[in-house]
Amino acid sequence: MAEKKTHKVTLIPGDGIGPEVTQAVVRILEATGAKFEWERFAAGAEAFEIHGEYIPAALYESIERNRVALKGPVTTPIGGGFKSINVTLRKKFDLFANLRPIRNLPGLDTKYPGVDLVIVRENTEGEYVGLEHEVVPGVVESIKVITEKGSTRIARFAFEYARKHGRKKIHAIHKANIMKLSDGLFLRCARQVAEEFPGIAYGEHLIDNTCMQLVMNPFQYDTLLLENLYGDIVSDLCAGLVGGLGLAPGANLGVDCAIFEAVHGSAPDIAGKDVANPTALLQSAILMLRRLDEAAAADKAQKALETVYAERKSLTRDVGGTAGTTQFTGAVLAAMAQN
Ligand code: NAI
Repeated sequence: MAEKKTHKVTLIPGDGIGPEVTQAVVRILEATGAKFEWERFAAGAEAFEIHGEYIPAALYESIERNRVALKGPVTTPIGGGFKSINVTLRKKFDLFANLRPIRNLPGLDTKYPGVDLVIVRENTEGEYVGLEHEVVPGVVESIKVITEKGSTRIARFAFEYARKHGRKKIHAIHKANIMKLSDGLFLRCARQVAEEFPGIAYGEHLIDNTCMQLVMNPFQYDTLLLENLYGDIVSDLCAGLVGGLGLAPGANLGVDCAIFEAVHGSAPDIAGKDVANPTALLQSAILMLRRLDEAAAADKAQKALETVYAERKSLTRDVGGTAGTTQFTGAVLAAMAQN
């Protein structure tokens, strides 16, 4: 039998709860049978203390080489300080698509059972280009950039994803009644791409209405196509539909490069207390396993995760349990050993 491939993966533990959830996920990944060589790097404030750079050059080089990274959350200072590490990495590697599947796990008593949504968020444009300036004291301009190229490629990504994964309907979410030019362009591009995919239904909803509709009846949606800021906000809303931020996974995808990370942030309120839920990062890592053609390892981890949730004995506090990060991780490892 051929020797199993070792995957070189850049690992960014991050800060806050990042190191705890990353360590948990690495333990689980290493027990799946897939083989990894981790290249570990600090980023953000911690990296600055060690290297004098928020993103060390060696971290860029590692992602450049490996083309795949697993990343914990990194704190971004509010209202000043350094630029978001997340936004910088997405831009640097042109990871234009942020894919966020939203599904229930068994055993959790959430508002709605059977939610199955996919969020496709444009990841490099919109308000996140970071173009802000003070025109005169007391007046600030923040520039939102929407391009035909960026809008067309994210729309095409969404439709191709839908076709490949048997999804039936895409809604482009917008505010083109107010942002007539920018959101108008985004919609025009989405409509043009939709015409190339007659087998997939296409609709458009205003962002404010969408938030209400999602809370009232999430089943009317299948796949949501959103600009950067709307996608960011709606992702947290949708995470809330299935049990919270401890559960929602994500993937930042470019043409041949990917960074897998949870939707949630560094959760400073619970950092260092062994209470963080590693499920969101684990589900992100399962997406990574599939991208690395490790389907058996991905299925194994997913099955173990679902077993732990269905049994309800070792769940973390955010989803109504009493277990800590370590106990939860031990339960997933034990379930995997029994598979
Ligand atoms: P957050 O997502 O860190 O936390 C929001 C709430 O959800 C908190 O009550 C937290 O305890 C809870 N929570 C989040 N993840 C959890 C988990 N795995 N298990 C249990 N509970 C969890 O959002 P917040 O507080 O707005 O942001 C904190 C920092 O994280 C900020 O500096 C922000 O910029 C950064 N951030 C980083 C992201 C990234 O690295 N991709 C994404 C989002 C925010």
